[in-house]
Amino acid sequence: MLCLSLTGSDCAKSIIQYEKHKEAIQLVELRIDYLETIKYEEIKGLLSLIPVPVIATYRRVRDGGLYEGSEKVRCKVLNSLLDLDFSYIDLEEDIKKQELEEKASKRSIKIIRSYHDMEGVPTDLFLRILKLHKRGDVAKIAVTPQSLEDIMMIFKVNKELKDIPEKVVIGMGDLGIPTRILYKKTGSMFTFCSPEGQEVASGHLSPEIMHDLYHADRVNENTKVFGIIGNPVMHTSSPKIHNPAFDQLGLNSIYVPFLVDDVRTFFQLADLLSIQGFSVTVPFKQQVLPYLGKISREVKLIGSCNTVFKSNRVWKGVNTDFYGFLKPLQEELDSQRIRTALVLGAGGAARSVVWALRNYYCRVVIVNRTADKARLLAEQTGSSWKTVEELDSVHDIDLIVQTTSGGMSPYDDVDPSSGYEFTGKEIAYDLVYKPKVTKFLKRAEQAGCREIFGMDMLIAQGILQFESFTGFNYPQKKES
Ligand code: ATR
Repeated sequence: MLCLSLTGSDCAKSIIQYEKHKEAIQLVELRIDYLETIKYEEIKGLLSLIPVPVIATYRRVRDGGLYEGSEKVRCKVLNSLLDLDFSYIDLEEDIKKQELEEKASKRSIKIIRSYHDMEGVPTDLFLRILKLHKRGDVAKIAVTPQSLEDIMMIFKVNKELKDIPEKVVIGMGDLGIPTRILYKKTGSMFTFCSPEGQEVASGHLSPEIMHDLYHADRVNENTKVFGIIGNPVMHTSSPKIHNPAFDQLGLNSIYVPFLVDDVRTFFQLADLLSIQGFSVTVPFKQQVLPYLGKISREVKLIGSCNTVFKSNRVWKGVNTDFYGFLKPLQEELDSQRIRTALVLGAGGAARSVVWALRNYYCRVVIVNRTADKARLLAEQTGSSWKTVEELDSVHDIDLIVQTTSGGMSPYDDVDPSSGYEFTGKEIAYDLVYKPKVTKFLKRAEQAGCREIFGMDMLIAQGILQFESFTGFNYPQKKES
């Protein structure tokens, strides 16, 4: 079940939130601490209008809520809320008021016994859940993972505490996002979502993202898990490439972003969750190499890998950046219209690009902010190089490829090609996809160049990844 936290400053606003998201959710939590004034008649009205079960939650600041008053007053309000037709009431583990428990039981309102750790994950996580379970109908634990090791511990709850079906275990923050999307793999009954743009707790996603993009509620024991590892990674568009395609082909699979601090731990997590394959982004494209049992010719050549999947029980690494980059240029390369290319940057992405172009016998000139790196890559790939200051002396270029992160949002003002004079004849290709039109591409467009957008490459490499992951051709877009 997906649970929407209603955070209106009055009940009417919360009802509007419910109406907007109702198609995606099966449960709501009314956050009493968000109400400007508590009007019981209005809450009663809200409960009569919302047909799904409603949780009453009156959260203190120290547990991530807004309530700053006394415990005495809060418990009095919780007591009065038990006179209304809520399905659940959230009572923190330290509330020891027998009358609340008795009243809840008499009124058939289930108790969610909750524990929050806003700083970390307690080492006695399993024991705590057991204790919460003994004191309530549903044990709820929301913790703040500090590392991927903590995420492993949260996912282990499913196995260690299988006998407790009524529980909710949540990892907050960006690290915890996989525990929200894969809440069923933590053994949780439900997970929380917020209305878009109003994140109630760190890491909350909107109901539509959880339901329409991830189909989080469909995950079961047989669901194959795929993902992307990176740091940072939450900005990634890759889930939008893979999840809709799984859905279209009717595959019981999900693709999830994993913020990773340590590659080795991720491979352990991959075993724990039986992950079948994953995309690799900055800064792990080289760090994954020692963990691979097989690598493709391109990975060997480039020394970097962006796609890992299980092949005959071993991890195989391929590089779909190599072919994904070439895809939008295929016609020009096949007809040998690209003879000389200028590549801006000398990092991991540039390595794939230079090797791919050299494979088509293009002459390549590399220019990088740190000249030494340009020189090294040029030596390794049989290319030439120049300094940034020498950019104005580069002429007769058929293709210019911008591979650096300069120009990427929020650094939209950066243009690593600024010393270069476009003629309008060269193709301008930017690997950056946010924003779609970078400062570099704007200048190229003004000069009359053909542009290729980072999104074109992202999609091309993603389609190839999908095929490696699943063995299926990427589906054609549905006719609307
Ligand atoms: P990736 O795998 O995305 O290529 P990387 O290996 O960290 O990431 O490489 C980043 C590239 O972007 C490098 O070429 C870097 O230049 P330096 O080698 O001088 O660091 C380049 N880069 C990053 N920010 C830049 C900026 N603001 N202007 C110009 N180049 C930049």
